[in-house]
Formats: sequence, structure tokens, C-alpha cells
Amino acid sequence: MQTGIKLISTGAYLPEKIVTNEDLSRIVDTSDEWITKRTGIRTRHHCVSETHLDLAAAAARQALERAGIDKAQLGACVVTTVAGDKVTPSCACMLQAALDLPELTPCFDLNAACAGFPYALRVVQGLLTDERPYGLVVSAEVLSRLLDFTDRSTCVLFGDGAGAAVVARQEGAEDIHAVLGSRGNDQVLCIDGAWADHTAHVHMEGQPVFKFAVNIIPSCIEDILRAAGRTLEEVDLVVMHQANERILDHVVSRMGLPPEKVYKNIAHIGNISSACIPVALNELYEAGRLTPGLRMLCVGFGGGLTWGGCLIEMGGKEA
Ligand code: ACO
Repeated sequence: MQTGIKLISTGAYLPEKIVTNEDLSRIVDTSDEWITKRTGIRTRHHCVSETHLDLAAAAARQALERAGIDKAQLGACVVTTVAGDKVTPSCACMLQAALDLPELTPCFDLNAACAGFPYALRVVQGLLTDERPYGLVVSAEVLSRLLDFTDRSTCVLFGDGAGAAVVARQEGAEDIHAVLGSRGNDQVLCIDGAWADHTAHVHMEGQPVFKFAVNIIPSCIEDILRAAGRTLEEVDLVVMHQANERILDHVVSRMGLPPEKVYKNIAHIGNISSACIPVALNELYEAGRLTPGLRMLCVGFGGGLTWGGCLIEMGGKEA
């Protein structure tokens, strides 16, 4: 059986500018009441002068400093994104230069939309070796530049930000039992490429995506637990993609999850696609809640339609 990985540190960066629901109600026909009631979102961050690379580099630097590892031992640097500064070079390659990562560290971007973080953990787990046992996953998104600020059904939902994680291949670490899937759907959630004959914007049919989410999250969680031979009682924390608070609440009641085990931060970050899960992990890390041995279920879903989840333990001295 392959050696698994543990999470050893996190980092994050959110742009300085905070956009409130009231701010948006001055641009489109919406209200704080509608957005709060239908989504749970109160504020989100938008870039003004920060680039996508700035966000990714700030989050990555923080995670690497906290991990205190030798960069020569990095076996992979993977950036998950749907909204990088350039099509090529990848953000991961630009990050390699910004962070002075070794040439033998494979650096590449991965697009699995909002499910990117669990996908990347699975890919990184497969790339690490005894000589290069550390992996850097950075999830960075600048969705504000892909929003149509005349479309009230999408522009209120998304924000910008980056989260990062350093993971370690460790003796005794369990396989993360990742469950990844996709449906080949380009209708209900898409963003056109730069070559489109119009400005590329997020296009989303909210209700089909909502229904997809509330069905796929429970089945993904059940598949992971079955693969891992674990029960929900053995999971300490559930960190899901933050697309809509009603989706999270729906999953909590449908699965009978203890609400205190389910982390929510959508109220102040909105939907930052693949960055939601690592930004949430970083908030938990900074709150001192990621104690060694803690077992977390991370689950994402998004455009594609993709979904992915895994079970990962916090590294460090066992409690
Ligand atoms: N303010 C006021 N009214 C609004 C707004 C708004 N911001 N947006 C839509 N409305 C209106 C609609 O026009 C509609 O009006 P009508 O009844 O007069 O036609 C009414 O509100 C209801 O619209 P619905 O689309 O039915 O609203 P719903 O309750 O489904 O909420 C939402 C919409 C929030 C988008 C919800 O469907 C949702 O969260 N879906 C899931 C989104 C998601 O999970 N995204 C994740 C993936 S993102 C990614 O991968 C990049």
C-alpha cells in the first residue's frame, strides 16, 4: 500500500478590498437581505491591484515558512485555479521563480474547478518520494475579473483569495482515500476561454448546480469513508467547498452531521472556487484547531461538473 500524506502547515491571503452586499446593491438590483438569506454571504474580497500570482505567492510563502522545510525537499508544487494571470506559463511555474523553488520540483497548474484542492492532494500524494517528501498545494482564484457585474445571479456569489498547504509523505501516514469524479457537463457552469468572441464571464445555472451539490457531497463522503474503512464518528472536522450556506446546511441535516464538526466561513469570503477549502483550513490552523492527529474530510464540487474529496490527518506529534 502506498505511503500516505499528512497536512503540516497552511497559509492564506485575501485581497485587502472587502465588498459588502450593500456595495453590490448599488451596482445591481439586489439586496443584503436576498444575498444573506439565499446564500449566507455577507462580504467577499476583490483584488484591486493584486495579481493572481501575488495572492498565490503570499499564501505559499506563509505555508512554507510555517512548515519550516528545506525547499530542496519539495517533490511537487501544484496550483489549482480557473482564473490564473496567464494561460502559459502556469501560475505554478511563476511561483517557482517567485519562491526560488528547485528545478527538480515539478510545478504545474490543475483545473478541476472548485474541486481542485482535493484533486491536487491526490496528485501530490502520488508524486512525493522519500528524497522529496514534501508537497506544496496552492489554490488561488481571482474570480472578480470573470464576473458580469450586470448579472445579479452570479456577481454576488464570488470572491478572490488564495489558500496553501504543505503536506508531507510520512511513515505511518494513511492514504488519503481520495474520491474524484466528473460528469462532462459544459452547460450549467462554465467560463469561456480567452479566445471567445466576447468577454469571458462566469455562466451558472444556479438550481441544477445546487441539486448536483446536495446529492454529490453526501455520496462522495460515503465513498471516502467506505474506502478508508472509517465512520463519520472518527472524523473530527468536515471542510466543504463554500458555495452556498444552504448547501452546507442541507448536507448537515441529510447526513446527520454534528454541526460543530462542519466548518463554515462563506459569510466573509463568498465562493472563491478551489481556494475555499485551504482558506478554511488556514483559519482553523490560525485558531489553533488543527491539532496533531486531527482527522479532516475535505470535499469540493464545481464546474465540469467535478467533485472530489479526501480524508487527511494533521501531522506533528501525536496528541
Ligand atoms: N438578488 C436578488 N434577486 C436575485 C438575485 C440577487 N442577487 N439573484 C437571483 N435573483 C432572483 C432571480 O432573478 C429570481 O427571480 P424571479 O423569481 O423573479 O425570476 C429569484 O431571485 C429566484 O432565483 P433562483 O435562481 O431560483 O434563486 P435560488 O434560490 O436558486 O438561489 C443561487 C440562486 C444562490 C445561485 C443558488 O441556486 C445556488 O447557490 N446554487 C449553487 C451555486 C454553486 O454551488 N456554485 C458552486 C460552483 S461555482 C464554480 O465552480 C466556479
